[in-house]
Amino acid sequence: MQGGYFLRRPILGIETSCDETAAAVLSPDGAILAEALLSQREHAAFGGVVPEIAARAHLAHLPGMVADVLARAGLQPSELGAVAATSGPGLIGGLIVGSGFGKGMAMAHDLPFVAANHLEAHALTARLPGLVEGGAPFPYLLLLVSGGHCQLVAVEGVGRYRQLGATIDDAVGEAFDKVGKLMGLGWPGGPALERLAMQGDPARYALPRPMHGRPGCDFSFSGLKTAVAQLVGTFPAGALPVQVAADIAASFQRAAADCLADRADHAMRDFEAPEKLLVVSGGVAANATVRAALGIAAARRGFRLVAPPIRLCTDNAVMIAWTGIERLRLGLADELDHAPRPRWPLRELAGAP
Ligand code: KG4
Ligand code: ZN
Repeated sequence: MQGGYFLRRPILGIETSCDETAAAVLSPDGAILAEALLSQREHAAFGGVVPEIAARAHLAHLPGMVADVLARAGLQPSELGAVAATSGPGLIGGLIVGSGFGKGMAMAHDLPFVAANHLEAHALTARLPGLVEGGAPFPYLLLLVSGGHCQLVAVEGVGRYRQLGATIDDAVGEAFDKVGKLMGLGWPGGPALERLAMQGDPARYALPRPMHGRPGCDFSFSGLKTAVAQLVGTFPAGALPVQVAADIAASFQRAAADCLADRADHAMRDFEAPEKLLVVSGGVAANATVRAALGIAAARRGFRLVAPPIRLCTDNAVMIAWTGIERLRLGLADELDHAPRPRWPLRELAGAP
């Protein structure tokens, strides 16, 4: 589609790339009319997301959820103006369910369709109206920290991203999850580990801080995770004293936060923008120690740290609908034969001319 598409009616957003089934309806200017989210509980027993179970659960829940958000927004499907659905990166089964459903709606009601990139959606969340005072004008820095992603990106415009650094092994959320698992905290480990760390001494164990102080903006967390595994291994299986567990959790969390702040510091040092913003997004942005460390690092470089509300940092459909709005404003709709992509790096996105 050429030229900007003037959206006069609300847009439906659909998210199914991992283990959250989500739908949202936004007005053309980005006001949230209705949103729903279901975190699939089916995976906890397996200690990680099982792709086939996730896809089946999306299929079971999505149609009812879409009907529910439309009803709460007071709309018939025919009153929608567009549909956006996550089309990658992510688990292919879920992507097929969500994007297929979205395309079906678009086809049935003759609506433009946006095949939203999940990473772009995290990147653009900060631009939702009312979230950041004065908006979040391009360019800004994004630190994306989730279970599957850990990267620093210069967000220069819709579809225009420059990756400054990424993890060379585990994502930081993955490290939280693996450490949580080996400490017997269940899955996902991040929130439980943060709760345990509240009772602990972050200075008790000197854990490694991989990449800390090295040039560039790449991350590494597997050495930190291995150090925790070795420490835990010095105690008889299942017999970690409560205080020791809390101290390990606090020391790990401190080390992870230090690494993130150090890498972000490197990115900020070389980043020029009229308005200096460091946006943090992804599930790990929920962690108070991480936020505090980033806040200090940002202030030191004259940056404002922007952390969207937790429910918009973690996977959700509001960000997908918003991405649809941003793309349609630039005329960047997609064809209905757009194939979902399990791998879809930001640099391969089609952007504004
Ligand atoms: O963005 P998200 O909901 O899903 C994706 O991975 O895309 O992020 C989930 C990740 C998990 O690894 C989870 O353990 C981590 O975010 N997480 C946390 C906290 N809450 C969620 N990590 C540390 N502290 C938390 N409070
Ligand atoms: Zn995500």
